[in-house]
Amino acid sequence: MSRPVVFSGIQPTGSIHIGNYFGAIKQWVAGQDDAENIFCLVNMHALTVPQDPDVLRDQTLKLAMLLLAAGIDQTKSRLFVQSHVREHGELSWYLSCTASMGQMQRMTQYKEKSEAQRGEARVGLFTYPILMAADILLYRTTHVPVGDDQKQHVELARDLAQRFNATYGDVFVVPEPAIPKAGARIMGLDDPTKKMSKSAAGSYHAVGVLDSPEQIKKAVMSAQTDSGREVRADPARPGITNLLAIYAAATGVTIEAAEAHFANARGYGDVKKELVEILVETLRPLRERYAELSADPATVTELLKQGADAVRPIARATVDNVKRAMGAL
Ligand code: TYM
Repeated sequence: MSRPVVFSGIQPTGSIHIGNYFGAIKQWVAGQDDAENIFCLVNMHALTVPQDPDVLRDQTLKLAMLLLAAGIDQTKSRLFVQSHVREHGELSWYLSCTASMGQMQRMTQYKEKSEAQRGEARVGLFTYPILMAADILLYRTTHVPVGDDQKQHVELARDLAQRFNATYGDVFVVPEPAIPKAGARIMGLDDPTKKMSKSAAGSYHAVGVLDSPEQIKKAVMSAQTDSGREVRADPARPGITNLLAIYAAATGVTIEAAEAHFANARGYGDVKKELVEILVETLRPLRERYAELSADPATVTELLKQGADAVRPIARATVDNVKRAMGAL
C-alpha cells in the first residue's frame, strides 16, 4: 500500500487565528509522520479579492514563518507558494472546462461572499473552488485536512475528479476531506453565531495565534456569552458552546469531557479564566519560534523555493496526464 498523501492550503491574508490553528494547522502538524505532506500558501486564492502587492508578498513570507513556527517540519513536509508552481493555474483551466455552472453556483461560500460584495465580486471568486480542486488533484492527494467551512469545496474536488475519471479514464485520485472532531468550526468571540474569520473587523472578534498574553486575555474575557451559569454545550447558547469547543480543541478532549471538567465552575468567568491560561501556554512556543524565524527571512525564502522544486514534477505529470486524456497533448 502506498502512503497517504495529505495536501492542504491556507490563504496569506489577514491574521491567522485560533480557528485556522485548531481547524487545520494543528492537524497538519500532528499527522506529519503518517503521510506524504504537502502544504501550500495559496496566494492565487488571495487575489480573488483586491490586495496590496507589497502586503501580499510580505504576508506570504510571514505565513510561511508562522507555519514553520507551528511545527511544520521541512524534513517531513513540503511547504511552498502556489504561484511558484504554474501547474495550479494550468490544471484549473482544464477542470473549469469540465465543471458545470449549476454546480459552481451551489457553492455557499461564493454565494455569501459575492452577496456581501454586491456586483463587485471578481470572476476569480466564482472559479475559486476550481483552483482549489486543482491544488488538491495535482498531487494525487488522498486526504485534505480542513475546517468545516471548506468541506463543500473538497466535495467539489471529489465530484470533479470522479466525473473526469468516468469521462476520460482514471487520471485522478479521489480525495477525502479530513475534518477534526474538535475545533472544526470556531466562532467569533464577539458574535458566536458567526464563524471566526480573518477578514472580520473588531479587535475582540478573534484570538490571533501571534497575539500577546494581554491581547488573548482581553479577547477571551470579553467574549459574548448569555446570562446563564451552567457550563453546557447547547445550540441555544452559542457563546459558552464556542468557549467549550475552543477548550476541547486546545486540550484535545471531547466536548463532553470539557463539560465534565467545568461541572463545578461557578459561572462562565471560571471557564474564560482557564481558557486564557490554556491559550497563552498553547500559543507561547509558537510566538517564540516565530520571532526567531523572522530574523532569518532568507532561509525561509530558500525553503519555499526547495518546496516548490520538490512538488513541481508531481504536478507536471498530472497536468500532462490530463492534457493527454483530453486530447490536448
Ligand atoms: P483559509 O485560508 O480561509 O483557512 C485555512 C484553514 O483554516 C480553516 N478555518 C477554520 N477552522 C475552524 N474554525 C474557523 N473559524 C476557521 N476558519 C478557517 C479552514 O477550513 C482551512 O482549513 N480555500 C481555503 C484554502 C485552500 C485549500 C486548498 C485548502 C486553497 N486550496 C486546497 C485545502 C486544500 C481557504 O480559504 O482557507
